Amino acid sequence: MANKTDLISVNKLKVNFRNNTEIARAVDGVSYTVRREETVCLVGESGCGKTVSALSILGLIDSPPGEIVSGEILFAGKNLLKLGEQELQRIRGNHISMVFQEPLTSLNPVFTIGDQITEAIRIHKVIAPDELYERCIQLLKDVGITAPQERFNDYPHQLSGGQRQRVMIAMALACDPELMIADEPTTALDVTVQAQILQLLKSLQRSRSMSVLYITHDLGVVANIADRVYVMYAGIIVEQAYTYQLFHHPRHPYTQGLLASLPNLSKRGQRLYSIPGTVPNPAHKPPGCPFHPRCPFAIDNCRIQCPEMCNYGNEHLARCPVLYEKNPDI
Ligand SMILES: Nc1ncnc2c1ncn2[C@@H]1O[C@H](COP(=O)(O)OP(=O)(O)OP(=O)(O)O)[C@@H](O)[C@H]1O
Ligand code: SF4
Ligand SMILES: [Mg+2]
Repeated sequence: MANKTDLISVNKLKVNFRNNTEIARAVDGVSYTVRREETVCLVGESGCGKTVSALSILGLIDSPPGEIVSGEILFAGKNLLKLGEQELQRIRGNHISMVFQEPLTSLNPVFTIGDQITEAIRIHKVIAPDELYERCIQLLKDVGITAPQERFNDYPHQLSGGQRQRVMIAMALACDPELMIADEPTTALDVTVQAQILQLLKSLQRSRSMSVLYITHDLGVVANIADRVYVMYAGIIVEQAYTYQLFHHPRHPYTQGLLASLPNLSKRGQRLYSIPGTVPNPAHKPPGCPFHPRCPFAIDNCRIQCPEMCNYGNEHLARCPVLYEKNPDI
């Protein structure tokens, strides 16, 4: 596949959270890119640093207790980590938007859907009232809300979970973003509605030539939506690849474990595999490769040195020299 240009590039980002006694290295040197018009997934188990790495892009890390220790986030040639709050607000308003997991907590219960979407539009541009209404209705149509004129006057609690998430997506589209960050936007929804929202995001990404950074713990979702994937474990990227490559030739033991624990028809009736052990606490990460306590291939050196990425070609990299030496396959 031909390379598109990078829209955003996160380089060696480190984010700590500090409490009285401990430092949690939540994001521990993460690098990833999202190119123009592509959908990239960040996938990994709960607590591995997906949300923190996305919130850093928007300057939304609570500080304290959070602290961006090092790294850079390049967007349109600017390092977002060096911008002041006003400039960041401009980027958030006009170029990058975010959709969160639980729309009920993000929508204001005392304002109508129409009020909230028109407000999202007005923040970004000066616009005449009748044009504002038309634009709002158009956005509701774009996200597949039926009878938008009627929904306009509804309050959030009058809508279903799926409709609320569509409204959140409409608000995120209000500024015509170049990048939409979607953080587990379908986790709270049932499977059918989840599939509809994924379909919606895919078609919006294409029709608006947007880029999407999609955060999930669910490899099924990844298979459905991603062009490229970054697998995170304990605050670092352990594997990155084009989606097809990741699913057919996973190179990191963690990715292999995640894939083996996916339910599928051929495993019907068998007990599902699950990776033994638990994810490390970011304040007490094991030395060396953070996956070593759970890894079936670990050797002595894995307990000492955190491995570098090994390059399998075609932008497929995995942080496991042990498997690389067994089968570099390039
Ligand atoms: N506000 C905070 N205060 C203290 N620690 C935090 C805070 N936010 C995140 N952390 C720490 O950062 C780590 C990474 O959190 P993050 O929310 O990025 O995980 P995640 O991969 O998005 O998980 P999930 O799938 O559950 O959403 C957590 O394990 C937690 O220890
Ligand atoms: S580096 Fe060692 S512990 Fe880490 S994934 Fe590879 S084999 Fe397992
Ligand atoms: Mg999260």
